[in-house]
Parts: sequence; C-alpha cells; structure tokens
Amino acid sequence: MSPHPHAPSQPSPHTGQDLAGRLALVTGAGRGIGEAVVVALLAQGARVLATDRDADDVAALARRHGAEVTDRQLDVTDAAAVEALVAEAEETLGPLDIAVNVAGIMRSSQAVELTDEDWATTFAVNTNGVFHVARSTVRRMAERGRGSFVTVASNAAGIPRAGMAAYAASKAAAVMFTKCLGLEVAARGVRCNTVCPGSTLTDMQRALWAGSGPEAEEAAARRVVEGDLAAHRTGIPLGRIADPADIADAVAFLVSDRARHITLHDLYVDGGATLRA
Ligand SMILES: NC(=O)c1ccc[n+]([C@@H]2O[C@H](COP(=O)([O-])OP(=O)(O)OC[C@H]3O[C@@H](n4cnc5c(N)ncnc54)[C@H](O)[C@@H]3O)[C@@H](O)[C@H]2O)c1
Repeated sequence: MSPHPHAPSQPSPHTGQDLAGRLALVTGAGRGIGEAVVVALLAQGARVLATDRDADDVAALARRHGAEVTDRQLDVTDAAAVEALVAEAEETLGPLDIAVNVAGIMRSSQAVELTDEDWATTFAVNTNGVFHVARSTVRRMAERGRGSFVTVASNAAGIPRAGMAAYAASKAAAVMFTKCLGLEVAARGVRCNTVCPGSTLTDMQRALWAGSGPEAEEAAARRVVEGDLAAHRTGIPLGRIADPADIADAVAFLVSDRARHITLHDLYVDGGATLRA
C-alpha cells in the first residue's frame, strides 16, 4: 500500500558517498566544468566514464584520478559514435545510472554576421549532442526504471545576450529538450534537469577575453563582475566569477538521491547575474 500522503516521510539518505556504486557518463570532461564534474562525482563515490572530443585531455584526466575513471574519445555530434560508446560501456562497465552533458562550444558574433557554419556547428554540439546522448542513455535508463540526466546549458538560455545569438538559442533548445524528455520519462523513474552556469573561469570564458595578459584578464573579469551597460548586461550580484567546482557541485546534487523529488528543474548557478528575469 502506498504511504498516507501526510505520513512522516523518510529522510533522504545523505552519506557523503551518495553516488557509491553508480556509473556516470560525462561528456566534455577533458577540462573546465566537465573535469570539475568528474571530480565532484568521484568525490561522492561514483565511477565515471569520462569522454571528450579531445582524447588526450580525458586520458590525462584518467591518469590523474585513477581506476574509477575510464576515458574514451567521443564527439557528441556523431550520433552513431554516441550509441556505439554507450552500448560498449554498458557491456563492459555496467548500466549507466547518470549522464551529464557538458560538451559545448561558443561562437561569439553579432547575429547577422553569423556564418552558416557558425550556426550549424553551434547547434550540432550544444543541441544535437544533448539529443544524441539522451537517446542512447535515457532510453536504457527508462527501461531499467531508474536514472538521472543533467544538461549543463547556460544562463544565456534564459536572457538575451549581445554577441551570443547562436549560442543562447542552442542552449535554450537544449534546456527545453531536456524538460520535455524529463516529462516523458518521469513515470519510469528517470529525472532530467538542467544547470545553467553564468560566467565561469574556464578556457571558454578566457577566449572571450582574447588578446589578454594577466592585467587585461583582470580588467575583463572586473567588467564581467561589475556589468556592462553598453552591452545591456548587469553584473554579478555575488561579486565573483564562478569556479568550475561551483557548477559541478550543483550537478552532483541534482544527480544524487538528495534531489530525488526534483525533475524538469532549471538550476541557475550565476551569482544572481540574470536576476532570474
Ligand atoms: N565557462 C563559462 O563561463 C560557461 C558559462 C555558461 C555555460 N557554460 C557551458 O558549460 C559547458 C562547459 O564549458 P567550459 O567553460 O568548461 O568550456 P571549455 O571550452 O573549457 O570545455 C569544453 C569541453 O567540451 C569539449 N567539446 C567541445 N566540443 C565537443 C564535442 N563535439 N564533443 C565532445 N566534446 C566536445 C572540449 O574539448 C572541452 O574539453 C559548456 O557546455 C558551456 O557552454 C560555460
């Protein structure tokens, strides 16, 4: 019999090793936020299949973190490669409990200056990649009746940003895809959420500060924190740029059983930068 709706509930288990025995696939794991996600999942006891377009970066990551990390080259734009890797991983490592989409690219340009290639490549990675990973992983999770899927999108998915039209549109599509997916598989025990980072100190962020030495980089970081009226951009109310670990902690929470009643959620980790407008 199902418990009475007003019966005292069982506390959700929180042992500090919340992901012990779980296997997680992470895309874009070679550096930046992806690497931080791998570290955060390992800290909670998970085994991680760390994938990236760049094979050397994930191989180095696996060497740094030992036997709990298996590294594989994977370009998320290649649907057949995603399916082959997931099938092989389930054969050799076991069922995937968790999938986290971190792979992403940014082409910065005025909307009307974007080339066809800029547009297509941005969507191929940021949107199609999420779809490919979902189709291969969530289908299997739903058959087993359990699993957790997280897409790292961007706060640009929820607020217009100058110079980021393709990027923001591709991320908004990935967020809505993840929510629709989550709705379809909720009854089969699979939770699907998104994490939307604001400015985070990685190579992607530094690329926006092109041509910079340490001093120029500091000035650029200050402009991000203080805001830029000419670009219609508020600053960051919490007064700092995120570390990759700030984003990874949110992911690690959402994939754990501590978030067992959270699905279709869009968690902004941006220090208040979008004022949740
Ligand atoms: N850094 C930020 O300020 C910021 C803000 C909001 C959202 N994000 C998002 O967070 C995610 C990680 O960003 P980051 O800052 O760590 O970026 P990054 O450029 O430092 O790392 C991105 C990783 O994705 C990999 N990658 C790129 N294309 C791929 C593909 N086709 N297949 C597989 N892997 C691929 C790269 O090799 C790289 O290792 C991205 O989706 C990005 O859009 C970043």
